[in-house]
Amino acid sequence: MRRMAPIHDQVASNIPVANQKESNFLKVKQAAQEARKAEARKSSYSNYSSSSNIAKTEDQYSNGVAASVWEAYIGENRENRYRNWLIHTLRKHGAKRVLDVACGTGVDSRMLVDAGFSMTSCDLSDKMLAVAKETKQRKNIKDWDIRQADWVFLTETLEKDGVLPGFDAVICMGNSFAHLPNEMTIDGVTYKNCHERAISNFRKMLRPGGILIIDHRNFDYIVKHQKSPSKNVYYQSSWPTDVDTTFDRNGDGAVTKIKLHYTMTVPLEVQRKTKMDLDESHNKITFDLTYFPHYLSTFEQLLRRVFNYEQDDETAPLQVCGDFQAEVVDPAYFIHVVTKERTAETCER
Ligand SMILES: C[S@@+](CC[C@H](N)C(=O)[O-])C[C@H]1O[C@@H](n2cnc3c(N)ncnc32)[C@H](O)[C@@H]1O
Repeated sequence: MRRMAPIHDQVASNIPVANQKESNFLKVKQAAQEARKAEARKSSYSNYSSSSNIAKTEDQYSNGVAASVWEAYIGENRENRYRNWLIHTLRKHGAKRVLDVACGTGVDSRMLVDAGFSMTSCDLSDKMLAVAKETKQRKNIKDWDIRQADWVFLTETLEKDGVLPGFDAVICMGNSFAHLPNEMTIDGVTYKNCHERAISNFRKMLRPGGILIIDHRNFDYIVKHQKSPSKNVYYQSSWPTDVDTTFDRNGDGAVTKIKLHYTMTVPLEVQRKTKMDLDESHNKITFDLTYFPHYLSTFEQLLRRVFNYEQDDETAPLQVCGDFQAEVVDPAYFIHVVTKERTAETCER
């Protein structure tokens, strides 16, 4: 496996910021209100989602709680190291048209629009998309196409919406891919090998020579130590957030599922000033997210299988870095970059 060269740009702090700024709170309040309004407007989603007759993976964000506080949790903007690495990598590969397949509330997509990329973004969750759509409207952001699509049915859903393959890059960031179970039953139909199916759909959306950038948490470390590495280059929480972790194991003792229970503390004085009652405890927000762990070696094997590279081919165009650095001990995240072979047909089915 080839390691990536580091980017020698400004490196921001890894330490989550807990400065409890009221301006941030107001943004969250707005987002929470928007999420609630979005629930009332549900029928209007059909305007931008033509996927309603396609079965969907379970949406873990469907109650809107995580969506309403997501950008207070991860920060409205990415840290410089994340931003610089992503933009540099996309430009190095000549990317102009980018598909963000896990846009969530749109943090990465907005950042890339600002940097001059033409963005198409999609996500499973209408609650997360509602926040992205609201921000797009409020900030009058051009050249940002937002869709609803499930990775398992990505190509058919996007094609139905008139979004054709041929992207220079597909990105799937924020530990999103680990939400997807490998097997699931939807409307009585069982779908197996969903990981391969989803990555294969990402590959199909690329032009020959295009790249997939996809990350996952360092689950090797998490499973071994029963906790996450202490640093986190991804998130800059506005408020203190506790995360309780529980592990599901199979009969052999292998971890099959990891459940994170988030408790975000919102200062009472901020609550009083804004007269916002987030929940009955008045200063806590809680939400749960479930992840299916990917390990570094098996994830690379998966990418090789789907992109048709021999497992032992050292010249295959796959790279991986930890926390956007070439050499790092116990990174919080692994980020993979894989190039679609140039001889492939552009419009595979
Ligand atoms: C942890 S959030 C990250 C969002 C964004 N990339 C970020 O870093 O802020 C994970 C996102 O993946 C989306 N997601 C999970 N499973 C999905 C699927 N099967 N198809 C499309 N999106 C999915 C969720 O709806 C959620 O918005």
